[in-house]
Amino acid sequence: MIPSTHPSSVASRGIAAGSLSSTAPAVSRPPAIGWSWLAVGVVVTVAIATTGCGGAPAASFRANLVESTKQRLTPQQESQVATVMLALFGTPDEPVALPETGLDQAKLTLAAGPVRSDIVGRKNGLYREHCAHCHGITGDGLGPTAAFLNPYPRDYRPGVFKFKSTERADKPTRDDLVRLLHNGVPGTSMPSFALLSETQIDALVEYVKYLSIRGETELALARAFFELDDDAKGELPQTREFLVDEMLTPVADKWRAADEARIPVPEMPADIDMAASIAKGKELFYGDKANCVKCHGVTGLGDGQANDYDDWNKNIVEITKEIDGTAERAREAKTSGMTEEQRAEHRANIAWVNRFHGVLDGDALQPRTIPPRNLRQGIYRGGRRPLDLYYRIHAGINGAPMPAAKGTVPPEDIWHIVNYVRSLPYGFDGELGADRSTTSVQRDRM
Ligand code: HEC
Ligand code: HEC
Repeated sequence: MIPSTHPSSVASRGIAAGSLSSTAPAVSRPPAIGWSWLAVGVVVTVAIATTGCGGAPAASFRANLVESTKQRLTPQQESQVATVMLALFGTPDEPVALPETGLDQAKLTLAAGPVRSDIVGRKNGLYREHCAHCHGITGDGLGPTAAFLNPYPRDYRPGVFKFKSTERADKPTRDDLVRLLHNGVPGTSMPSFALLSETQIDALVEYVKYLSIRGETELALARAFFELDDDAKGELPQTREFLVDEMLTPVADKWRAADEARIPVPEMPADIDMAASIAKGKELFYGDKANCVKCHGVTGLGDGQANDYDDWNKNIVEITKEIDGTAERAREAKTSGMTEEQRAEHRANIAWVNRFHGVLDGDALQPRTIPPRNLRQGIYRGGRRPLDLYYRIHAGINGAPMPAAKGTVPPEDIWHIVNYVRSLPYGFDGELGADRSTTSVQRDRM
């Protein structure tokens, strides 16, 4: 679990200086455009990674072994990804913000590295102090406490965020992340950081973006091998055009576009008849267009369809199915009649299955289903302003089964659903509520 000592982490074993010459042969070729720049970056960051600061063991990012094993990368290819990642993004102690990332190096410096104070007593290492024990040094959601939490801390690497003011598939705005850190995620272990200063929150937001851009670029690199033609001999092109312009920049551009992706919200009429609006919202909630009842249940307790997963857990469920299927086919295969080629493939499949079991043990958490929210509790992870509920219902929740009402319900009608949802925590007992449990176990008595 501890990233720097994790036995199977490519990041901790693969970027020793010695492996560079054997796995990045482009170094010795005539430099392609931008390669000299990349090589300088690698040399500098390797020096930092191997010596560390002040003698303390240097922290390293964990490689995304689940993805590289899924893509069946060879050890050489994994090592190539690790080398490129080091050059593009640096290390947890010395993060690098290329101009293409749009990130502010000074803010990253404040958030990165071990917990310490600088010469004027300013706290550095904020991410490791406040976030890493849950989200992991790499932002992979695999910090030491992660396994004990439900829901699991977020893995930033796929770049999927749930609670925001932008359309479903878009990134959150800076303001969304600032608000999130101020409020925490109510009803989960994600705490509020309202006691930190604005500067500190700002630095942490920048660092989350950095980890997410880094993680999404790593995913793009791991998937890029798939599309290489035979001439490439299974190696990624070592050019700035490919590594920065094609792999990194599109990821960073999505973050830049967030401000333009804000959800347009119509004003709720000031003279709205609240009772009528709630009644209309109720109709929509149970109707077959919005069909909220399918998941949130006839009582709104969240006891409808509850056997689905969010994207992070679903990924592991699907991978496990794929491994089991491959293992099953390998068991049933009759090796006697195989050609030499088929036999080699058979052996490779068995090796892949065995390796993947090991990777899942160390680099993934046991999948957990995501129950639809109990709407009688009045606890909303993405915030309880009517506006927050509008965003959630309009766009759905990215990465979760909760679908968007956009397209099926007209914008003004979404306000009616918001008003109905807001009335639910009080529904059984009137405006003041009462000392009654709102858990689904007790629903028969309600
Ligand atoms: C005690 C564990 C814990 C700590 C500490 C913690 N988080 Fe989280 N965080 C979570 C959990 C759990 C979630 C997932 C909530 C969910 O999916 O509903 C989460 C979600 C998030 C998200 C995703 C929100 C979204 O819209 O999808 C971000 C961003 C985030 N945390 C940032 C941080 C930062 C930055 C820090 C440190 C300042 C931090 N967290 C500290 C547990 C933690
Ligand atoms: C396919 C199942 C499904 C349907 C249909 C569905 N939801 Fe959800 N809903 C969920 C799940 C799952 C969550 C929890 C997501 C999470 O925690 O990330 C959720 C969460 C919510 C939340 C909590 C938001 C927060 O900030 O905590 C609200 C409010 C909500 N749904 C309202 C609705 C409404 C209104 C509709 C109909 C327009 C609807 N849902 C339709 C599955 C569904």
